[in-house]
Amino acid sequence: MTVILDGKTVSERRIELLREAIDESGFSPRLATVLVGDDPASALYVRMKHQACERVHIGSINVTLPAGATTERVLETVRRLNADPEIHGILVQLPLPAGIDREAVIEAVSPEKDVDGFHPCNLGRLVSGQPLFAPCTPLGIMNLLCEYGITPGGQRAVVVGRSIDVGRPMAALLLNADATVTVCHRRTRDLGSVVRSADLVVVAVGQARFLTAEMVGEGATVVDVGTNRVEGRLVGDVDFEAVRERAGAITPVPGGVGPMTIATLMENTFEAARRLTCGSAP
Ligand code: GUN
Repeated sequence: MTVILDGKTVSERRIELLREAIDESGFSPRLATVLVGDDPASALYVRMKHQACERVHIGSINVTLPAGATTERVLETVRRLNADPEIHGILVQLPLPAGIDREAVIEAVSPEKDVDGFHPCNLGRLVSGQPLFAPCTPLGIMNLLCEYGITPGGQRAVVVGRSIDVGRPMAALLLNADATVTVCHRRTRDLGSVVRSADLVVVAVGQARFLTAEMVGEGATVVDVGTNRVEGRLVGDVDFEAVRERAGAITPVPGGVGPMTIATLMENTFEAARRLTCGSAP
C-alpha cells in the first residue's frame, strides 16, 4: 500500500501546536512581508501567509511597492524593517519584477530576520552543517518525512532541480541528515537511470508531470514540489496517478508540500522572535 504523505493534515496539526507554543511563550512574534508589483499569484501567496500568521497568533504587516519600484526603494524598505525591533521575520516575496536586483535584495535582509533562509549567510551555514534558518520548502519536506517516520539517513536521495530556494538547500538538509545525495539538473545525462536508483526522490523542476512511473524505483519515497497550472487545475512535477503505483510513499499536489512550506514559515518566524527576544546566540 502506497502511503500518501498528507502535508495538509500534518501542517494543520503543527499549526495548532505552534499556536499553543506561541501563546504559552509570552513572545509576540511579528512577520513583515514585502510584495513588489501586482502579480496575482504572488499576492495570493502573501495573503495565505498572513492568514496563517493570524491562525498562530503571529502579528504581520505587508509592505506593497509598485512594479516600477527601484532596487534602492526595495532596499530602503528592507533596511527599515531590519531596524524595526517590533519585526522579527522579513520575507520579500519572489519573483521580483524584472529590473530589480534580486541578489542585492536577498542580501539586504538581516540574516537574523531571514525566515526564508535565502541569505548567503544562511545558505552557507546550512551547507556547513550549522543552520540558522533553512528555506521553508525543503525544511517543511524534512519535517513531513520525519512525521511519517521516514529517516533519510543512509538512503540514496536524488534531488531533481538546483534552485536556491528548493534544490540546493534540500540537498544540504538531506546530506546533514546522513543521506547519500545526488543533485540532477537539465544537463544531467540519463536522468531516468539516476532517479531510478533512488530510495528518496525530491522533484522541483516546474514542469507538469515531468517525473513518470518508469523513472521511479519500486517502493521509493517521492516528494513533489511542483505547482503547475494545467487547464485550470493544479498539477505537480510528478505524474501522480502512475507514479503512486510504484512508489512506497508520495506527496499529493495540492495538499502535500505546499501547506508544509507555510507551516514552516510560521515555525521559522517564532524561532526568529525567540532568538531576537532572548538575545541567544544560534
Ligand atoms: N515565492 C515562491 N515561494 C517563495 C518562498 O518560499 N519565499 C519567497 N520569499 N518567495 C517565494
